[in-house]
Amino acid sequence: MLGNAVGDASRHKNLNCSLLFRQSEGCIYDVVQYMLDKFHSHFPNNELQKLGYYTLNQERLEKLVGTETVSIYYLDLILTSYCNINCTYCKFPIEKSKISFDDVQKIIVKGKQDGLSFVHITGGEATLHEDLPSIVTQLQNQNIRKLLTTNLHKSSDYYTALFDVGLDEINISYDGPKGKQERISDCAKVLKVITTAQAKNVVCRINMTITENNCQHFLDNILYMADIGASDIKPVTAVLDSINLDQVKKVLQPQIEKLLGNQNCEKYPILTFRLPRLIEKEFRGIHTNMPKCYFLLDDVCRDSKWYYPCMIHLREKSEKICHVSEADVQQKRQDYYNDFVPSKCKICIENCPDFMVYFNTLIKEAKSGNF
Ligand SMILES: C[S@@+](CC[C@H](N)C(=O)[O-])C[C@H]1O[C@@H](n2cnc3c(N)ncnc32)[C@H](O)[C@@H]1O
Ligand code: SF4
Ligand code: SF4
Repeated sequence: MLGNAVGDASRHKNLNCSLLFRQSEGCIYDVVQYMLDKFHSHFPNNELQKLGYYTLNQERLEKLVGTETVSIYYLDLILTSYCNINCTYCKFPIEKSKISFDDVQKIIVKGKQDGLSFVHITGGEATLHEDLPSIVTQLQNQNIRKLLTTNLHKSSDYYTALFDVGLDEINISYDGPKGKQERISDCAKVLKVITTAQAKNVVCRINMTITENNCQHFLDNILYMADIGASDIKPVTAVLDSINLDQVKKVLQPQIEKLLGNQNCEKYPILTFRLPRLIEKEFRGIHTNMPKCYFLLDDVCRDSKWYYPCMIHLREKSEKICHVSEADVQQKRQDYYNDFVPSKCKICIENCPDFMVYFNTLIKEAKSGNF
């Protein structure tokens, strides 16, 4: 069942269905349309918009409900695999490789032809790539939305220049002014970049990684981030074998309760979704039957050498889909989607992020017509 979603028959009339199916395809169309109508009658249209999570929107959901064929909508682009710092919790493979500007151009042009709409530029530390400003310009010229995740080690002028050539969204990885600082210690720079982003209409979120070294300051750090004007805040407990998660959750609990009692919290949809889940027993991972990962249909994750099922599999150094040089990448992705069962995969079972589990569950329910 889809939580406490409320029915509203009037939504049937206004259904703006983006399915690629045509009326002429007869009964397939009817079945899919019937399921979508049924889905809409139980799930308010604006619920996903309220999530505020990058690309998890209604239009994408409807497209994925109606297809089993791979395409490309979203790309996690690991521009550089290396980084200038060495956060103690970082599990991402840090090796000396990057995607050349020529290759990025090819990826963008081909992607655009195939429907690419959103690129998440990340790493390693993507700002170490000397061509990042030109890459943002290329994406802008192709009218593709772009998000950069960065440790903010460059000057504030550097980020202003990226905003000026068309960067739409920036995620600053910042764990807050209080507690052990893994990355940013220059609070003035964070404030300056956020203020500039706001002035230029750039969405500016903060990725906050919680550890035993900073969990006791969680509330103060969140309030500080809200105070300096972050568009949203995405806290996450570090995935680390050495972390005592039960202890961290115990420390977080009273702080999270205070935050949830604060009405201003609602201004931050990602934070609002995440806060209660952070202290749940099963915060991450798949705990029910999940026969498919629907992200594999239109979500691509690649670095200079490999296609991965998603960033989590990359981080956990798990499976790859295929090498980038292979001629039939689309077919490899399709085969992978067809065969892959998340609820049989240890990485997914233990690590799939809450937003992904939520979205996959919605699609699974809609596809099965079981609301
Ligand atoms: C791998 S970094 C890459 C981009 C950039 N270097 C940065 O730090 O923003 C992307 C995000 O992954 C998060 N991250 C890294 N290691 C993690 C871990 N073990 N558990 C949870 N998040 C982690 C970082 O905090 C960061 O927000
Ligand atoms: S800045 Fe990002 S990529 Fe670099 S070590 Fe830290 S988390 Fe990892
Ligand atoms: S971890 Fe989640 S998003 Fe990644 S392949 Fe598994 S189910 Fe899909």
